[in-house]
Amino acid sequence: MAETLTLTASDKEGIYQELLPQLTYLMDDQVDDIANMANLAAVLREAFGFFWVGFYRVSGDNLILGPFQGPLACTRIRRGRGVCGSAWDRGETLVVPNVDEFPGHIACSSLSKSEIVVPLRCRGAVVGVLDIDSDQLNTFDQTDRLYLEKICALLYPQT
Ligand code: SME
Repeated sequence: MAETLTLTASDKEGIYQELLPQLTYLMDDQVDDIANMANLAAVLREAFGFFWVGFYRVSGDNLILGPFQGPLACTRIRRGRGVCGSAWDRGETLVVPNVDEFPGHIACSSLSKSEIVVPLRCRGAVVGVLDIDSDQLNTFDQTDRLYLEKICALLYPQT
């Protein structure tokens, strides 16, 4: 596979549209989830310059920090806590325009201003989340939700 991304679009939706086929090709079904998550985090941060991009994986009643790009982060989040634990509990993507207005938001960094969390599904069950933080308010919208859900679905194509 190509070792660099090919991106020519300058608008968000255009970048997502260019990324999708490249990410589809990048996903390797011969390796474990961690390797694919690591590359997804790297590509999303490189393509958009997000402040923090990473994965948390379900382990019992907690989400445990997985592959990420960006500053250090909380290692453990209980189900139902914070944006990540709430997205897991509700089984739906949460778009948070202003983290200060989300009750129970967990501030791993005071620089994080807005956030999107997408549940990862494998055979119907939520097995983790993709979490992306921005250092600007109102970064994420329904376009991000649509494409990030498609991107997360690449991790478990059998479901
Ligand atoms: N803000 C998240 C915690 C994870 S960090 O942002 C990386 C939350 O409220 O769940």
